[in-house]
Amino acid sequence: MQVTMLDAGGAAKHTPQLRALLQDAVAHGASVGFVKPLLDAAADGYWREVSGAVASGSRILLAAWQDNVLVGTVQLDLCMKPNGRNRAEVQKLLVHSGARRGGVATNLMAAAEIQALALCRGLLFLDTEAGSGAEALYARLGYTRVGELPEYCATPDGAWRATAIWYKTLFVRDAANATAA
Ligand SMILES: CC(C)(COP(=O)(O)OP(=O)(O)OC[C@H]1O[C@@H](n2cnc3c(N)ncnc32)[C@H](O)[C@@H]1OP(=O)(O)O)[C@@H](O)C(=O)NCCC(=O)NCCS
Repeated sequence: MQVTMLDAGGAAKHTPQLRALLQDAVAHGASVGFVKPLLDAAADGYWREVSGAVASGSRILLAAWQDNVLVGTVQLDLCMKPNGRNRAEVQKLLVHSGARRGGVATNLMAAAEIQALALCRGLLFLDTEAGSGAEALYARLGYTRVGELPEYCATPDGAWRATAIWYKTLFVRDAANATAA
């Protein structure tokens, strides 16, 4: 398996595969921002937004490949506020249903950490459906569970669910020097 970083052009070029990943996740019940049915136009619109964010420098987009097939993806949303340059939100960790439990997500998250460190982002955080299988993954990767927000979002079938918030500290900042890069 290989993990690569996609630039805006790469995101546009691989939109059909990215769309398929997102639609597969929604079809299999993942709470990733959408409800069923996730139509092509809506999925493509989402990836266009991601491509724009990548182009603007506020988003890192990673892709996992097996035999030249896109089997997973994850994003780092880099906080661009002047006082938030230490944090990045992990978004849309998606592994195709046919490629799960083979370490794809683990490899993507390791690559995301490398990118975060390179960009001096010491705090990674994310939300995920409380009680979902993803929680076991984040615990195994060393994330800390902060707590839950009740009825935060709905499953693709429209059932309200709590969301769990997780974080991981990659390195500790000098408290006296908050403006350092
Ligand atoms: C959650 C998800 C990203 C995991 O991807 P993956 O490639 O299967 O994960 P890995 O193979 O790297 O898993 C590593 C470990 O995490 C844990 N884990 C992963 N998925 C799990 C699940 N569904 N249930 C319980 N534990 C799980 C296990 O400890 C696993 O090790 P093991 O397979 O040796 O038991 C994938 O199931 C997925 O895309 N789900 C839909 C979208 C989603 O929920 N994304 C995350 C929240 S936004």
